[in-house]
Amino acid sequence: MKAVVIFLPKFQGALTERKTKETMRLKGEFVKRTVALAALACVAALLSTSGIAKTTWGPADAAATFKSKCAACHGADGSGDTTVGKNLKVKDLRSAEVQGLSDDQLYEIIAKGKGKMPPYEKALGADTCKSLVAFIRSLKK
Ligand code: HEC
Repeated sequence: MKAVVIFLPKFQGALTERKTKETMRLKGEFVKRTVALAALACVAALLSTSGIAKTTWGPADAAATFKSKCAACHGADGSGDTTVGKNLKVKDLRSAEVQGLSDDQLYEIIAKGKGKMPPYEKALGADTCKSLVAFIRSLKK
């Protein structure tokens, strides 16, 4: 019994020491993560205010543009399954026929228009028209 009483404080001491170490390790980790997050936020803020972010149109931007400018005729999924699309007999943008066109051909149609399809180069700019070509490719079945 005596042995246990003597041993116990030692054991507790070791335990608290381990706990302190653990807390310190966690704190260190927390600080590291906070610094990393702050750095990321800075980079994001820099990117969004610099011109770079505006000229490199990602697929997300192209998707939004397609939805607002093209979906009325071509449908959000490019199927052309809309009232206007059916009236104008637009082809399914996902079809082998349309996907078989080259990037340049797709770009020409979007930029300069074709038949009842209005031209978009002036309104959207060349970069956006290019990103729309990439978006149409992404619709491919
Ligand atoms: C007013 C309806 C309308 C809108 C809006 C419209 N299009 Fe079209 N689009 C058409 C029609 C009609 C054709 C078929 C033209 C032809 O072959 O005479 C076409 C053809 C195309 C084609 C070639 C596929 C084919 O049928 O040969 C592509 C690619 C295309 N459109 C992309 C777009 C994109 C991208 C947008 C948005 C920036 C857009 N269109 C907006 C009506 C529209």
